[in-house]
Amino acid sequence: QIICQIWLTEKMHRQFSTTKSYLNIMPAWVIDKYGGNDVLRFTKNAAFPIINYPNEVIVKVCAAGLNPLDVSMRAGYGAATLSMKRDPLNIKQTGNEFPLILGRDVSGVIMECGLDVKYFKERDEVWAAIPPWKQGSLAEFVVLSGNEISLKPKSLNHVEAASLPYVANTAWSVLVNTGGLNKENCANKRILILGGSGGVGTFAIQMLKAWGGHVTVTCSQNAEHFVRDLGADHVVDYTAGPVEEPLRALEKFDLILDNIGGDTERWALELLKPWTGAKYVTLVTPFLQNTDRLGIADGMMQTAATMTTKALKHLLKGVHYRWGFFAPSGPALDEIREMVDEGQIRPVVEEIFSFSQVPKAFEKMERGHARGKTVVQISKPGDVS
Ligand SMILES: NC(=O)c1ccc[n+]([C@@H]2O[C@H](COP(=O)([O-])OP(=O)(O)OC[C@H]3O[C@@H](n4cnc5c(N)ncnc54)[C@H](OP(=O)(O)O)[C@@H]3O)[C@@H](O)[C@H]2O)c1
Repeated sequence: QIICQIWLTEKMHRQFSTTKSYLNIMPAWVIDKYGGNDVLRFTKNAAFPIINYPNEVIVKVCAAGLNPLDVSMRAGYGAATLSMKRDPLNIKQTGNEFPLILGRDVSGVIMECGLDVKYFKERDEVWAAIPPWKQGSLAEFVVLSGNEISLKPKSLNHVEAASLPYVANTAWSVLVNTGGLNKENCANKRILILGGSGGVGTFAIQMLKAWGGHVTVTCSQNAEHFVRDLGADHVVDYTAGPVEEPLRALEKFDLILDNIGGDTERWALELLKPWTGAKYVTLVTPFLQNTDRLGIADGMMQTAATMTTKALKHLLKGVHYRWGFFAPSGPALDEIREMVDEGQIRPVVEEIFSFSQVPKAFEKMERGHARGKTVVQISKPGDVS
């Protein structure tokens, strides 16, 4: 009976907290408030992440990818919605997200698995995109759920692998889930990517070309060779004058992916084939700005009203208007791994920084004009003194 009781107590304990208790702290770059680059702080004493749910794993981070979202989040973008997601019942105090760890891509090795993790085991090499409401990868360890991770492509090292998951999951969500494209129906579809030379664009070009699509891209003139090399069929330089004029002269499109936003909405939808199911999907939406500015309830109502009005207005003209969002997905990364290992998609790493150079990596990101991804190597996280 005693043995049974001990076993039950142990089992119940492990149901709730399954993390081994040998580590309490780890090195990480954190922010304690929102602001400029000076809010980034290195610490050797960040809280070691624990497994809270049985489907979670702890990953030792080998490399972390940065995205424009990290720069925006450092400055407080999305704070209202992301805080609500972290603490839906609003039990904790304002500012409870700090110290906050940024970094949305990870490639690393599983150190520990929760009790319900079926498809992964300790020491598996994995890659993943980390949802923005979770602690990020600019740290020695990160916790993710089993359905957010995927086995890393064998053909890539960790730095290369960390350049892909966030843009890959974003492009997949936008093109497949929202845009309705897939490898069976994409052949000969005409797709326009506004802003094709950055992280999302460079991934989207390669995936669409692998599926047989015809891809037109806008970017600055000095990126033309770069995007053609990735497979773009037609390139239009947006710095040479109003970009909509040369685009109007082209055959109309089945899908437009807008990575730029702002003014583009005023002219881009007229480039779609009307009454054929053609879609415009933009990644630049006012959703998080609205909730930051107006609060959750009013911000969401404003967002729903804007979205519905625009969708209806364009539906009457025979084209679909959609907003696209990043969605974490291990199963999508499984499919992308196959494309990577078959050589259909290659990583585009623009610059690699060491763990001690994280503020420099953010400075570089803020300068804009990306030609692929910025990656931080975290193989020796203790190398900052
Ligand atoms: N809603 C979501 O869930 C979500 C998720 C991911 C990303 N996003 C957003 O999607 C956008 C793209 O992300 P990303 O990671 O690809 O950004 P990125 O890596 O910074 O790339 C943006 C690219 O656009 C080019 N560009 C700038 N102005 C342009 C213009 N007027 N016309 C054509 N190209 C222009 C820039 O290069 P050159 O000018 O030098 O050619 C740059 O390479 C960002 O605004 C990001 O915040 C949203």
